[in-house]
Amino acid sequence: MHYTRALSIADLADIARDRLPPSLYGYVSGGSEDQSSLVSNRLAYDRWRFVTHSLVDVSQRSQAVEIFGTRYDMPLGIAPMGVTGLCAFEGDLALARAAARMKAPFVLSGASTVPLERVMQAAPGTWYQAYIPAQQEVIAPLLDRLRAAQVEVLVVTVDVPIASTRENELRNDFRLPLKLTPRLLAGGAMRPRWLLQTFAQTLLRGGVPRFENFTATRGARIIDAPTVDHRAGRASMRWETIAWIREQWAGKLVIKGLLRRDDARQAEALGCDGVIVSNHGGRQLDGAVSTLDALPAIVAAAPGLTVMLDGGVRRGTDVLKAMALGAACVFVGRPAMYGLAAGGEDGAVRALELLRKEIDVDLALLGCPDVAGLGPKYLVREGDLPGM
Ligand code: FNR
Repeated sequence: MHYTRALSIADLADIARDRLPPSLYGYVSGGSEDQSSLVSNRLAYDRWRFVTHSLVDVSQRSQAVEIFGTRYDMPLGIAPMGVTGLCAFEGDLALARAAARMKAPFVLSGASTVPLERVMQAAPGTWYQAYIPAQQEVIAPLLDRLRAAQVEVLVVTVDVPIASTRENELRNDFRLPLKLTPRLLAGGAMRPRWLLQTFAQTLLRGGVPRFENFTATRGARIIDAPTVDHRAGRASMRWETIAWIREQWAGKLVIKGLLRRDDARQAEALGCDGVIVSNHGGRQLDGAVSTLDALPAIVAAAPGLTVMLDGGVRRGTDVLKAMALGAACVFVGRPAMYGLAAGGEDGAVRALELLRKEIDVDLALLGCPDVAGLGPKYLVREGDLPGM
């Protein structure tokens, strides 16, 4: 199937599965250990049902949102993902451009392979996600680099103190730093288009991709081991680190990977601007609570924060449910990556278009013409009787 014929995110996932070497598809689609958080992120949406409003004029609909003073045309952005360059040529740029075309937020991963300055130039307004080590002497120059590149929103991911156990990656011998294993190469050889698009073109660009944006200095090749020192520092990161960053960083500061209301309160008390309720798409602690279930308590506990969410969003209805429970907007990871693998920048646009169209149709069917009007009154727990 061609990506232009995909009717849903699931269709794009099918195309991505055909296009990518199996070990790479496994890395993108998989979660940690028993994948229970990955599954539970999805199941949580089914536990809420809509209670529609009838006879509401829905001839004019809006899904625009304002986040940190910027207006976006849709309430859904692209979450930070590492090594997108393995799924399409200069994947970070392709995703940034796709989001810009759709006027949707995009978060550039700290584990990205296109220098962030190029991404900011191609798509001003891009947010930057950092994997921050505890050492201030490493953070300060990174913040300088971000300021020089005119990054305005800094997202600090806090749910990766150490790497998790992802058995499918171990089984497939898929590792980061990347190992060019016989299995990966054999999988690639069976998919000449992937080989051509990513490896050949990347080589034309001057060699195997590098982690360009972990720190202030350019990274090493992703087949080397650039991140070991960096990771070692991350496990000792504490709230004091966030407090220190807050003092240094005048732009917006967002914490990604919170699931508890006391943590959200702490973020608010330290002057953070927002949080992304996330369990890393079920890729870190397996068994972590689903993000939709974690959301309402955080919204209630930290009214001063812009509360966003990611994890398991695959349909417009998922977006409406999350927003009805208080999310200011949501992010998708894998759906954008599937689109990217299926058709590069245009494929990622397709993923966003499908979701935007679904949101539009679903708003009309729900009887709520504007996402700003969404609230708990539109939802009931599966099995409960609607009171209205
Ligand atoms: C991620 N995620 C992630 N998060 C982050 O803060 N920095 C990163 O570099 C990455 N890398 C990454 C790679 C891949 C392949 C995936 C699938 C995910 C997590 C990501 O930002 C987001 O939290 C989840 O992907 C959301 O869940 P869904 O939408 O994929 O279900």
